[in-house]
Order: sequence, then C-alpha cells, then structure tokens
Amino acid sequence: MKIDILTLFPQMFDGFLNESIIKRAQEMGKVEINIINFREFSTLNNQQVDDTPYGGGSGMVLMCEPIVKAIESVKTKDSITILLTPQGKTYTQKEVQKLKEYKHLILICGHYEGFDERILKFVDMEISVGDFVLTGGEIPAMLITDSVVRLLDGVINASSSNNDSFSSNLLDYPTYTKPQEFRGLKVPKILLSGDHEKINEWRREMQIKNTKKKRPDLLK
Ligand SMILES: C[S@@+](CC[C@H](N)C(=O)[O-])C[C@H]1O[C@@H](n2cnc3c(N)ncnc32)[C@H](O)[C@@H]1O
Repeated sequence: MKIDILTLFPQMFDGFLNESIIKRAQEMGKVEINIINFREFSTLNNQQVDDTPYGGGSGMVLMCEPIVKAIESVKTKDSITILLTPQGKTYTQKEVQKLKEYKHLILICGHYEGFDERILKFVDMEISVGDFVLTGGEIPAMLITDSVVRLLDGVINASSSNNDSFSSNLLDYPTYTKPQEFRGLKVPKILLSGDHEKINEWRREMQIKNTKKKRPDLLK
C-alpha cells in the first residue's frame, strides 16, 4: 500500500513514522508513506497557501490551487482521496477495514479555519475522527494511517487483531501478565490452568460481559 499525506506541517510526522510498528511496516515493504508539503505547490510569493475568508470572519482558509495541485501530483486510478474534516463521516473500524483494501490513500490535512469549500469537488470522501475539533488534520492522518497499516497482511500477528474490540460487535477480553498477584489482585485462575478450550470459552464470555457493561449499544 502507498499512503500520501498532504500537510503544511511535515515535521509533525517525524516521530510517528520512525517508531514502532509503523516504522517496521515501512522497513518490511508493507507500506510506503510519503509526506508532501502543499506549500511546494503554491504559485504565490512566500509560498502562500491560505487567505482570508470571503464575506469576512476570523481565521485563514486553505486555498484551492495548492491543495488541488498537490492532489493531482500523486493521484492515480488506484487512489482514494480523503479530506480530513470534523464535518466528514465518523471514522470507525468498519471504515478501517474498507480503507485497507485500497492500493493508495491520499490523506489531506487541513489547518486554521479549514478549506475552501470547492476543494470538496476534488476528493472522494470526507472523514472525521470524532465530534470534536482539532487544530489540524495531522493527528487524524496519523490515526488513520496507524489503524490501516496495522491490519495489512504480515504487519502484526493476525491472531492478535482477530479479537480486537470492534473487529466484531464485541469488545476485546481482559488480558493479564506477570506477576500472578499484584497488591492483592489475582489473575483469574482459569488463565493459569493450561486448558485452552476452557480459556477460549472464558474469553468469549468476558467479551460479552465487557461489551454489555461498557458498550451495550454494540450488541443491538
Ligand atoms: C480548526 S479545524 C477547522 C474546523 C472547521 N472550521 C469546522 O468547524 O468544520 C482545522 C482542520 O483540522 C482538521 N480537523 C479538526 N478536527 C477534525 C476531526 N474531528 N476530524 C478530522 N479532521 C479534523 C481538519 O483538517 C480541519 O480542516
């Protein structure tokens, strides 16, 4: 898979791309991630990419020209172009499953007041990461990249993601590690029994119990 992230703040991605599973996935050749500064596509003095809103009001608005040129510089027939905006479709694990099937994601990060509305004509979909407003689309772009890349074949052990919360309508089961007792809190005996059939049954029961308690809406 290839992921192109269009942003005004490329350095925000330094740590994200160079640590842990995302770093390993790139080294393994599972994903190629490019950070593209849309300032490079400005045709104005000082590489300007934003301007004041028509009609007045506060803040700066990202202009059509540099954003659309940046999209066109990377887009192919295999691309899906995604605008990150709080006004988009709310991102869930179902969306992650769909996006992981694409060969090429283009993620467009806004900033300031947002985008010139005409940019919507040049994208395939709008995604929001939740009903709140961030200062920019960089964290949403990292969030989408992370959630998709971890599901690409061979990036993490498939058995570890199969029971993940939201991969079905159930939350994950509780997990424990050493020591067997911490400040009087004991690991459930069943997990020490070595009986894998019983352990699987218990885990399934705990998934249902957890979901009923924490997210009953998922069971509807
Ligand atoms: C301050 S926000 C602009 C919000 C815009 N004025 C509105 O209310 O719809 C700046 C940028 O951050 C990103 N952003 C903020 N919140 C987001 C969210 N919940 N999901 C996805 N992107 C978000 C978008 O790229 C947005 O263009």
